[in-house]
Parts: sequence; C-alpha cells; structure tokens
Amino acid sequence: MPLDTPQADAAPHIWARGVSVDFAHAGQTTRVLHNIDLSIPRGGFVSLIGPSGCGKSTLLKVLAGLLQPAAGQVQVAGVSPGEAARQRRIGLVFQEATLMPWKNALDNVKVLMEVAYKDRSKDEITQRATDMLRLVGLEKAALKRPSQLSGGMRQRVSVARALAMDPEVLMMDEPFGALDAITREEMSEFLLEIWQRTGKTIVFVTHSIDEAVFLSKQVHVMGTGPARIIESIPIDLPYPRVEETYSLPAFATASGRLRRLLKEGHGLKAAS
Ligand SMILES: Nc1ncnc2c1ncn2[C@@H]1O[C@H](COP(=O)(O)OP(=O)(O)OP(=O)(O)O)[C@@H](O)[C@H]1O
Ligand SMILES: [Mg+2]
Repeated sequence: MPLDTPQADAAPHIWARGVSVDFAHAGQTTRVLHNIDLSIPRGGFVSLIGPSGCGKSTLLKVLAGLLQPAAGQVQVAGVSPGEAARQRRIGLVFQEATLMPWKNALDNVKVLMEVAYKDRSKDEITQRATDMLRLVGLEKAALKRPSQLSGGMRQRVSVARALAMDPEVLMMDEPFGALDAITREEMSEFLLEIWQRTGKTIVFVTHSIDEAVFLSKQVHVMGTGPARIIESIPIDLPYPRVEETYSLPAFATASGRLRRLLKEGHGLKAAS
C-alpha cells in the first residue's frame, strides 16, 4: 500500500497522521494516544501542552523513533523517525540533564560525538565541544563537574551535547521543569537565541502556559482520555521575544486562550 505522504514541495519537517499508541498492563490494553495528526514546518518552534499523563512524552517518543505506534504514520525529514534517529537528525533533551557525574562539562558534551564521529580526530571533537559550550554561554565552566554546576547550567550542558551532533530537530521534554522561575525565563530566551541562530526545528513539551506562549510559533493543546490534540493555536507575537513580550496584550490573549483549552483538556468547564 503506498504511503499517504505529504507533497514534497510543501513537505513539513515532521509529519504524523492517525497516530495511536496502546499500552498493555495486567492483561488490559489502554489507548494512550488516539488518532493524532501533526504537521510541523522546517524551522518551526512547536510546543505540546496538556494535563499530566495525557501522553505528551509518549507522543514525543513516537516522533523521536523511541516508540512504535500501534497505528498511523510518522515522518521526520521524509524518513521514518527510527531512520531519522539513526541518521542522527534528532537531538533529545529531557527534564533531567542526564550527565555523567564523573566527567566535566566539556567531556560530557564530547560523549555522543566520541561514539558517532569515529572519523574525526580528538582535537576536532574537543574544538567542537568547546564551541558548543561557548554557544550555551558556559565556556568558563568547561572543567567543572555536574555537581559543581547549577541546574540551569547542567541543562545548558545537555543542550550543548545535543547541539554538538548538529541535529535538524531538537525534541525537548520539559527541559526547564526543574528550574526556578527566573532561571527558566533566562533559559527560554537563551533557547530562542539558539533557535534563531541555528534554524533548527524544535518540539518542546511543557506544563507552563507562559513558557509555551513565550517560545512557540504554534502550540498544540492536548487533552486526555485518550490523548488527542484539542486545538493547535498560532502564537502571533513578534520575535525576538524578550522580557517585555510577557507584558504585551497579545501575550495575555494567547495565555487566556490556552488556559481555557487546558481546562477543556482536564474535562473542566472553562469560566467564560
Ligand atoms: N511504558 C508504559 N507502559 C504503560 N503505560 C505507560 C507507559 N508510559 C506511559 N504510560 C501511560 O501513558 C499515559 C501517558 O503518559 P506520558 O508519560 O506520555 O504522559 P505525559 O503527558 O508526558 O505526562 P507528564 O506531564 O506527567 O509528564 C499515562 O497514563 C501513563 O501512565
Ligand atoms: Mg511527560
């Protein structure tokens, strides 16, 4: 059967059609994602937001090729997610920085490159790791171990490690969830700078309405039982987004809309 793929000239970077995921537990099968359609343009910044347990991480895992859906089709850069992951076109960043505690920041950034880039010299890899640390503003912390870094700095190291592989797509699952409010806002601005500098496609999972609005070009609001995308809303705020962006009337309008949709996702009636 031919794949029902999008037209090549208008091909989105990430594309999903009719994706469903079932989990089996104690002899029972539960549908976690149901019939999800998604289309993310190249260079887009898209957030997934929804109640806890609704399936955001599951959807991200499907897009990253870490989980096979029960039904549906997914493409990343025109190939299956598994193939895109093998070709190292996808970078992943999780809520916890998952750094090796015995290695310093520089060596942690080198880890994936040392496995993948067998044809590159040690000096080349060190140079690239140094460049990536500079990109995330951590060149002075290169020799520090994770225990000597703050949570925000550790997350920067894991972003640098992902960027070092030069993926086309960066998939991030609540990467700033454990950080305090101000560090979180700083990390958002920093991520937007990197996104604008590198042109990568970013898929970002968050629980924070403000974070989703501040960062994204488009937000997909998910609801439970089983998870579906309730609505996809464009965020028409100008870039670069800066501290003043939070005070714009359009920011309040978008957050209010998201809040109402999230209440729907929780099965609550939104106040009108
Ligand atoms: N490996 C698994 N086996 C069985 N059930 C699972 C598995 N992984 C996730 N689930 C279930 O699937 C549902 C969606 O989980 P998922 O982690 O995708 O939610 P989430 O939206 O990312 O939640 P959170 O916001 O809390 O991170 C949950 O009900 C969870 O219990
Ligand atoms: Mg999750």
